Amino acid sequence: MAKVNGTTVSASGIATTGADAIDILLNDHKLVKQLFEELAASTSGERATILEQLKALLTVHNATEENLVYPAVRFLAARPRDAETLYHQQDEAEAGLWAIDATIKGLVEGDDVADQIDVLHKAVLAHVRKEEETEFPHLRKTLDDDTLRQLTADVRAFRNNFRSVQAPRGG
Ligand SMILES: [Fe+2]
Repeated sequence: MAKVNGTTVSASGIATTGADAIDILLNDHKLVKQLFEELAASTSGERATILEQLKALLTVHNATEENLVYPAVRFLAARPRDAETLYHQQDEAEAGLWAIDATIKGLVEGDDVADQIDVLHKAVLAHVRKEEETEFPHLRKTLDDDTLRQLTADVRAFRNNFRSVQAPRGG
């Protein structure tokens, strides 16, 4: 099971760690990068498990960005074209992830999984770089303390609700 700075990914829950909204996403990114490295180095028998962890993490991470952070990039940092680019990159990455999943599960034939993983890995790293080197610094510079606090509270609440929807507790 992947673990970065005490953060654990399992199908039932994604930890939310970080001092503020942007830190939380940066911590997700560390885990995403680690899982991709593990996926690239994995044997075919290990791939499905790592892919499930990646899917679980990206489901929460992408939903957080698309619902709260990209709108902030769009409206608060006033970077509409960049927000649109981030949405598109993320869509393509998700399609790539599901394509790999389908190949591993034997639902489609003929594609080389290692090549698919390599292409997606590079695309995700480029996307993460745009966020970390350009968009997040813009956002941090734009947001005053109160707004960043509110965004952080929204991100935490969203992820908590998301988790309870994904893994409802019995009782
Ligand atoms: Fe991200």
